[in-house]
Amino acid sequence: MRAGQSAVTRRLDYAPPAFWIDSVELTFDLDPAKTRVLNRMRLRRNPDVPAQPLRLDGDELNLSRVMLAGQGCSFRMDGETLVLENLPEGNAPFELEIFTTCYPEKNSKLMGLFMSGGDFFTQCEAEGFRRITYFLDRPDVMATYTVTLRADKARYPVLLSNGNLTDEGELPDGRHFATWHDPHNKPSYLFALVAGKLVAREQRIATRSGSEHLLQVYVRPGDLDKTEHAMNSLIHSVLWDEARFGLPLDLERFMIVATSDFNAGAMENKGLNIFNTKYVLAKPSTATDGDYDAVESVIGHEYFHNWTGNRVTCRDWFQLSLKEGLTVFRDQEFSMDLAGTPSARAVKRIENVIDLRSAQFPEDAGPMAHPVRPDEYLEISNFYTTTIYEKGAEVVRMYQTLIGREGFRKGIDLYFQRHDGQAVTCDDFAQAMADANEGSDLARLLPQFKRWYSQAGTPVVKAQGRYDAAARTYTLTVSQSCPATPGQPRKEPFVIPVQMGLVGADGRDVPLQLDHWQQAVQGSHTVVLTEGETTLTFIHVDAEPVPSLLRGFSAPVELDIDLAPAQLMHLLAHDSDPFNRWEAGQQLALQTAIEKIESGADTALAQPLNDAHLQALRAVLRHPQLDAAFKALVLTLPDEDYIADQLDTVDPQRIHAVCEAMARQLATELRADWAWAYEQCHDTGAYTPDPVSSGKRSLAGLALHMLCLAAQQDGDAVWPGKAYQRVKDAGNMTDRLNALHALVYSGHELAGRALERFYTLFKDEPLALDKWFALQSHAPDRGGHILPAVRQLMKHPDFSLRNPNRARSVLSAFCHGNPAGFHRRDAAGYVFWADQVLALDAFNPQVAARLARAMDAWARLAEPYRAAARAAIERVAAHAGLSNDVREVVTRALT
Ligand code: PHE
Ligand code: ZN
Repeated sequence: MRAGQSAVTRRLDYAPPAFWIDSVELTFDLDPAKTRVLNRMRLRRNPDVPAQPLRLDGDELNLSRVMLAGQGCSFRMDGETLVLENLPEGNAPFELEIFTTCYPEKNSKLMGLFMSGGDFFTQCEAEGFRRITYFLDRPDVMATYTVTLRADKARYPVLLSNGNLTDEGELPDGRHFATWHDPHNKPSYLFALVAGKLVAREQRIATRSGSEHLLQVYVRPGDLDKTEHAMNSLIHSVLWDEARFGLPLDLERFMIVATSDFNAGAMENKGLNIFNTKYVLAKPSTATDGDYDAVESVIGHEYFHNWTGNRVTCRDWFQLSLKEGLTVFRDQEFSMDLAGTPSARAVKRIENVIDLRSAQFPEDAGPMAHPVRPDEYLEISNFYTTTIYEKGAEVVRMYQTLIGREGFRKGIDLYFQRHDGQAVTCDDFAQAMADANEGSDLARLLPQFKRWYSQAGTPVVKAQGRYDAAARTYTLTVSQSCPATPGQPRKEPFVIPVQMGLVGADGRDVPLQLDHWQQAVQGSHTVVLTEGETTLTFIHVDAEPVPSLLRGFSAPVELDIDLAPAQLMHLLAHDSDPFNRWEAGQQLALQTAIEKIESGADTALAQPLNDAHLQALRAVLRHPQLDAAFKALVLTLPDEDYIADQLDTVDPQRIHAVCEAMARQLATELRADWAWAYEQCHDTGAYTPDPVSSGKRSLAGLALHMLCLAAQQDGDAVWPGKAYQRVKDAGNMTDRLNALHALVYSGHELAGRALERFYTLFKDEPLALDKWFALQSHAPDRGGHILPAVRQLMKHPDFSLRNPNRARSVLSAFCHGNPAGFHRRDAAGYVFWADQVLALDAFNPQVAARLARAMDAWARLAEPYRAAARAAIERVAAHAGLSNDVREVVTRALT
C-alpha cells in the first residue's frame, strides 16, 4: 500500500473542484511495451472556490515533462498526486502540457490503458483515467476531448476514440494516425480509445426525427457472425429511447467494441461503448437464451446511459445510483416492452426479482450493506454493487408506481430540461420528479421517500388480515420495520407503495372499498405506507378473501404475512397478478423448506412436499393457458441463497440436503407430467430467441433435468440416454447446455462423456468454454467431490486466472454459486477461497474483491463453518500489501 491510498472518502466532504478543465487534447503513441501520452489541456480557476494549488490525480504513471503556457514550470509530487503551486492568478484560462508514459502490456488490473488479445483498450470508470494521464479525475469536471492516436498500421489498422473522426493519414515507418473529436462535454471516466485488428458490422439508421446515424459493432475478425443480435438490440434501443422517453441519439456515429478481457460487463464511454464479449457475441450454436437476453439488456443499458449518465452525469461517486439505478430501471422497462405480452412482461419482472432477492437482499443483510447513496468508501470500485444497481432500480420503479407512467415521463422531461450537460445528485433527480408532479403523493412525501437513498437494509412489511363476517369487513393491519445495518442501528419509516388485491373464493378479485371511500375499485389498488403501523378496513366484503399483497413486487421489501398453505394454493391457482401467482408457489416451497431445515431430522428429507402442494404444482405444469416460461419459473424451487437469507443461522449442508430432497421428490412424483411437458416443448424448430420459443426451451430443459433426476432414483436409462443424444445433436446452445446440465446435475455416469463431447465441440469458443468450466464448478456437491474437481479444472490448459471471465467461471461459480460445495466441514473451501483471493489480488484487485465477497454471510453460519470462515478471512486481512479493494471487503466482514 502506498501513502495516500488508504483514506476513506466521505460524501459530506464533497467540495467543488478548485479548477475547471475546458478542453483536452491527447496524443497517444501507442506501443504495448511503452505508450507515450501527451496531454495538453486548457484550465481555469473555479471562481467560486478560494485559490489553492492545482492537484492532479495520477496512478502508476511515469512523468517526463510539465509545461505551463509553453514553458517549463515547477511542480512537486505528493504521493501519486502532481501538485502545481505557482499558477497564474485570476480567472483567465491557461494551458498545461503534461508528458507521461505508461506500460499497457503490464497493466494486469485492466484499468486505464490495457491490452487484450494484442489490441489496445481503455477502462476509465471510476478512477482509471488517472492511469493514462494526470488529471482532475472526478465526474464533475467536464471537458471536450480531441484525441490523436498513432500506431503501427499493420498491427493496429483500426484506431477509435469518442466522437467523430476528423482526420486520418499515414506516418513514417509504417505507422498511421487518426484524430477524433468529441463535441460533447464529458467527465474523464467516459473517455475511451481502442486500437487493433478489428472488423465491424455496420448499419445506417434514420430515427423518427429523421436524423441519420452510423451504428457499428467491432469485434475480432472471426466473430463477425456473432454480432447480428447485438446490432438488432442496439437498433431497438435507439428506437425505444426515442419512443418511450423522447431521448434521441445525439451522435453521428455510435460504436460498440468487444473485448474478451474485461473486469465488468460493459462501459458506456461516450459514443464508444466497450463491452465484455459475453454481452455482445451471440449465435444460436454458442449462446443460450439467457445470453441473448443478457446481450439485449446490457446493450440497452449502455446505450441508455448516453442520456442517463453521460448527458446528465454524477456530481461525485456517491451519486452513482443516480445513473445506475435509473439506467437499470430503463433497461428493465426496455426488455419488458420488447417482450410484449403481459405474461412475457411478468416473466421478466419475476426474473429481476429473483436476482434482487438472491443477491441484493443478502448484501443488505450483511457486512457490506450500504444505502443506495452511500456515505463513505475506501475504494469506489467496491460500490458497483447490486444495491446501487438493482435496489437503485427498484427505488426508481417506486417513483413510477407512485406517480404513474405519465407522471414519471413528466419527471424525466423536467430532469433533462433542468440538468442536461450537468453533473448532479440524487436529490436533483428526486426534486425534478416531485416538481413535475405537484400535488402527488410523491411530492407530498418527498423527504420521507428519500429515506430510500439514505437508509440501508431491506424493510420488512408485516401484514395480518381479519375477516368480520357480521360486519362484512376485512381488516388488514400492516406494519413496517427495518433491521439495523452497519452504522445505522435505527431506521425511520419508509414510503412503501403496496399494490394489493383481495382474491375471492371464486378466484376473482373482490371489488375494493376502503371504509372512507365513496365507491369501490375493481382489481388492484396501491396503498402507500408511511407509518410504522397502518390499519386498512375494506367494507362490503361478502366472504373471507385471500389477501394478495405487494403485487408486481411494488417495493423492495420482505413481506411477512402468515398465509396458510391452502391460501397460498388459492393464489397460485387464481391470482390475477402473475407475479403474486408465482410468488405464492415460492412461499409455499419456502415454508416447507424452512420447516424441514429447522426440524433437523433425517426423516424430514424423505418426502418433504405434501400431496396438495404437488397437486398444485402439477396443475400449473399441465395448465392449458399458462405460458411455458411462466410454468418453468413456478416449477423452479427457491434457490439456496434466498433460503439462507431467510434464516438466522445458516447450515449450508442442511439447506442443500433439503433442496435436493425437494427436487428429487418433485422429479419422481411428477414424472409423467414432466415427460408430457418435455414432449410438448422440446422441439422449437429453427432457433429464434423470442419469449415464446425460449420459454418452451426453458420448460423442456427443466423437464429433462427432472426426468434425469427421477431416472437416478430407479436406474432408468431412457431419459439420460435422450439427454446424452441431445448434447450430441442439439440444434442450439440452449438445448445442448440444458441437456448437459441435466446429466451433470443428476450425477449420471454419462455426464463425463457428455462433458468431453461438449469440450471437443467448443474448445475454440471462449464463451462456450466458460460455460463448460462453470457448469462443473457449480454442480451439486455429493460427498465433497466438487472442490477437488475445481482444483483440477484450474490445472486445465484452457484455464487462466488472468482472464476475468475464465477466472469467474471457475472461482465465482464455486465460491458464490455452489454453497454446498464451498461450505465444507473440513474448511477446505475457505482455505481455497483465501488462497485464490490473495493470488488474484496480486494482479487484479477488482476481480479479487468480488471473489472476497463470497464470505459476506459468514457471521450467520452455523458452527463449525463460522469459526473456520472467520479464520480464513482473518488470514486474508493479515496479508501484507493487500489492495484497498480487498482490504475494505475483509475489514468490513470482520467488524
Ligand atoms: N458503468 C458501467 C455500467 O454499469 C459499469 C462499469 C463500472 C464498468 C466500472 C466498468 C467499470 O454500465
Ligand atoms: Zn450502468
